[in-house]
Amino acid sequence: MSFLEKHGKLERNVSLLLVFSLIAVLIGGIIEIAPLFYVKNTIEKVEGMRPYTPLELAGRNIYVREGCHVCHSQMIRPFRDEVERYGHYSLAAESMYDHPFQWGSKRTGPDLARVGGRYSDEWHVQHLINPKDVVSESIMPSYGFLAKNELEIHNIEEHLKANDAVGVPYTPEMIENAIADLKAQANPDADTDGLEERYQKISIRDFDGNPQALTEMDALVAYLQMLGTLVDLKAYQQNENLR
Ligand code: HEC
Repeated sequence: MSFLEKHGKLERNVSLLLVFSLIAVLIGGIIEIAPLFYVKNTIEKVEGMRPYTPLELAGRNIYVREGCHVCHSQMIRPFRDEVERYGHYSLAAESMYDHPFQWGSKRTGPDLARVGGRYSDEWHVQHLINPKDVVSESIMPSYGFLAKNELEIHNIEEHLKANDAVGVPYTPEMIENAIADLKAQANPDADTDGLEERYQKISIRDFDGNPQALTEMDALVAYLQMLGTLVDLKAYQQNENLR
């Protein structure tokens, strides 16, 4: 039987064809995907990435809980229009501590990967309380209740531990001091030496403008203000021609 005749047999037998198709797809899939587990630079090493502080992590949890990701992505693609609008395209390493990740292509609102530092805290608070106050044509819903909700902090240690379990390098010291660090970051009068030693490049202030209470607004604004600010991107500008 010639090769073509054998192949003809295969083409006429649906079950056999299915089995061999699956094998072909499997081989193709493995060849495409497996190397990524071994190639060292799948995630390029970058300077500046660190785990989220407890306050930022609490803010991130609120971001996920409120479904901000339904309208906002955190992934700037390497296309000219995106880079001009949002800034340097996102690096894989910038989301390596994100569980769950916040990539996506569904954007009802703008990408938020580099929104940190773009606006003042007051702007964010006002925008979250009533978006139309600062962007008159906005269709974003109001999240004013966040400014009234006291931030739940008793279980923040567990959140750090859970992230540690999936590979975020939280040290035992970070986990032990989670509650103290969380409170200190939102209180400019606190002793923050330990906090600043444990986490680089952090902002310490009363994020929601209400020193009386530690609210969900504090945490969310702290999170938004650090987005995209950790990595020094100047080092990556030399070998790109998008900007
Ligand atoms: C129904 C869709 C929707 C949801 C849900 C939503 N947003 Fe928005 N968001 C928008 C739209 C549309 C804009 C653009 C208009 C504006 O600035 O208000 C926007 C703008 C923003 C901006 C300003 C971005 C920029 O670069 O100007 C921030 C920050 C923001 N949203 C944060 C959030 C956060 C935090 C949440 C969750 C608590 C959230 N959004 C939920 C639709 C949404």
